[in-house]
Amino acid sequence: MTEVPPGGVPARRIAGARPHPGEPPGRAARPGGSLAFGADYNPEQWSPEVWREDLRLMGEAGVTMVTVAVFSWALLEPAPGRYDFEWLAAVLDGLHEAGIAVDLATGTASPPPWFSRAHPETLPVTEDGARLWPGGRQAWCPSSPVYRRAATALASALARRFGDHPALVLWHVGNEYGCHNAHCYCDTSAAAFRAWLRARYGDLDALNDAWGTAFWSQRYGDWEEVLPPRAAPAFRNPTQRLDFRRFSCDELLDCYRAERDALRAITPDVPITTNFMVQQFARNVDYWRWAGEVDIVTNDHYMHAADPDAHIELAFSADVVRGLAGGAPWLLMEHATSAVNWQPRNLAKRPGELLRNSLAHVARGSDGAMFFQWRASRAGAEKYHSALVPHAGTDTKVWRDVVKLGTALQRLAPVAGSRVVADVALVFDWESWWTVEADARPSVDVGYLDQVHALYRALWRAGVTVDVVPPEADLRERRVVVVPALHMVSDDAAARVHDVVAAGGSALITFLSGIVDPNDHIRLGGYPGAFRDLLGVRVEEFFPLPAGRTVRLDDGATASVWTELLHLRGAQAVACYRDGPLPGVPAITRNTFGDGTGWYVATRLDDDGTQRLVELVLAQAGVSPAMAVPRGVEVVRRVGDDAVYVFVINHTDAAVEVPARGMELLRDVPLDDALTVPAGEVAVIREPGGRGGDGR
Ligand code: GAL
Repeated sequence: MTEVPPGGVPARRIAGARPHPGEPPGRAARPGGSLAFGADYNPEQWSPEVWREDLRLMGEAGVTMVTVAVFSWALLEPAPGRYDFEWLAAVLDGLHEAGIAVDLATGTASPPPWFSRAHPETLPVTEDGARLWPGGRQAWCPSSPVYRRAATALASALARRFGDHPALVLWHVGNEYGCHNAHCYCDTSAAAFRAWLRARYGDLDALNDAWGTAFWSQRYGDWEEVLPPRAAPAFRNPTQRLDFRRFSCDELLDCYRAERDALRAITPDVPITTNFMVQQFARNVDYWRWAGEVDIVTNDHYMHAADPDAHIELAFSADVVRGLAGGAPWLLMEHATSAVNWQPRNLAKRPGELLRNSLAHVARGSDGAMFFQWRASRAGAEKYHSALVPHAGTDTKVWRDVVKLGTALQRLAPVAGSRVVADVALVFDWESWWTVEADARPSVDVGYLDQVHALYRALWRAGVTVDVVPPEADLRERRVVVVPALHMVSDDAAARVHDVVAAGGSALITFLSGIVDPNDHIRLGGYPGAFRDLLGVRVEEFFPLPAGRTVRLDDGATASVWTELLHLRGAQAVACYRDGPLPGVPAITRNTFGDGTGWYVATRLDDDGTQRLVELVLAQAGVSPAMAVPRGVEVVRRVGDDAVYVFVINHTDAAVEVPARGMELLRDVPLDDALTVPAGEVAVIREPGGRGGDGR
């Protein structure tokens, strides 16, 4: 095992070339740590003359690390068992000479055409039985032992060949597990699913009970009758579907583990990661199950051009990733310098947006900013995706922004290793995401992320920093815990929320929370099941609203999507419906429980109403923003050993003046009173203090 803090790798190890006996350390390995800056580097798409140009430009931009060989399997193993690593050795040698560290991929995300031809049974199958063909990427079944053997063999061969290479600082296993092949319904998967279920339930009676198979004549009498939830004439069993999601996530994880363990056996001191996909459209992998399996948590994040609040979604995703890292620094492995190529309309980034996006990730705990990809491809499905070196070359806005970012990250080197300080915890749960959005539910208008994002946006606008935590997290130290749509909740997780409130904290819980147990069975006796007593309410019936219909509350807010026939059982009404199907019925309540307060929101408040409520809850709990700034200015603090780093990101069209003393690191100016951050710009203030000082 590498000696690393859980979920983290010392920044020095990943940000610069690994010091090699007898050789000077790479540029980024200087004392004090540094932030990683670089990209996926795909030299196989270019000639060696271009490689030389690449190295020169990487030096010009201040690149410290690149990820190599992510999609190189077909070149690394051109025929079964015949490896050709010489081109890669030349690439790694060149990078090392240039002082650039390598995050070396195992290349196993996409098998070569010969592999799919020789082993067609490894191709994934959709829920309606269609086999997916090669020709794109990730065309493999996560349960295929043939795929796993071949992938692990390649990873081992790479480790034997390059394990001692001085440029190697990090292993990058596969790529975005489950991006395209999260669920496979083939016969191999069916057998693996049954094995997984046997391990989970032991016997068929337990499975029948958990899946509620007394319903619709679904009782199983023999394990061979149990199948993946393939396309069926009517709604499929919801617990079967849930278990299939859990199983699929575990199968991918086993693929990762197989390669990781093979690498670790050969290079025990090289840290290992795989890039997660925490962003708004990626719900197939429950990363709470993965977080402890990597030596450093890394993430890929892309902006959704159609989302007017994409910068807030970025902040949320980054906070989730920090939660996965247990609060330790993590690494942004991919984002884009400008447009992507896979949305309906791929908008270029606006002036300043690249720097704002990159530094927003750094503000929230990333020890660097990496991209997809170094040089924009001239061929292939991603030729219209932005890169650090655009098609038009270096006399471009993108290249100038890249060089500027490289300089900024060098100046921010002291930030490496520091930790974000947060005021509030938000409980986030992939299983609730899956089950809130399952078939046959009360209203298709209820979206899990919609509710999570609505509350998060209000917290972001209120200027408080949020730690995103799993349902089973210990919440005792928290003053405010936000629980949006925690539909599926275990007794243990529910107890944690009760504990924090009983001890004097506040919990803000939204509708559809506490409704089902981990088998997706309703908690009987009235909603919101697990939180009824804590909230002092009892809901007897859901009253979802017709599409587009709004209702008014007596506090002036409007709401949509959802209402409930709610009775007070000790709670006070904070606001009631003025109209709609339930006039006079409470929509927002508060309840004293132990020494604390349980707040309940039984409807989907509009943005203003959500904002008012969140600010009321924060004020009553005594939580105030990190700094009083106009709305749209993002302030996040990272606390180091001997300094506090205050990131001020101005997303507005107007300059803002903030109180500041210490140093502004990006502009290298001393401050003794205040700083003006121009519209659209970022400032990072180094204040005296820190963990060893008085900065907390
Ligand atoms: C990621 C992927 C990269 C590239 C990028 C484009 O999902 O890991 O290989 O495809 O998206 O945005």
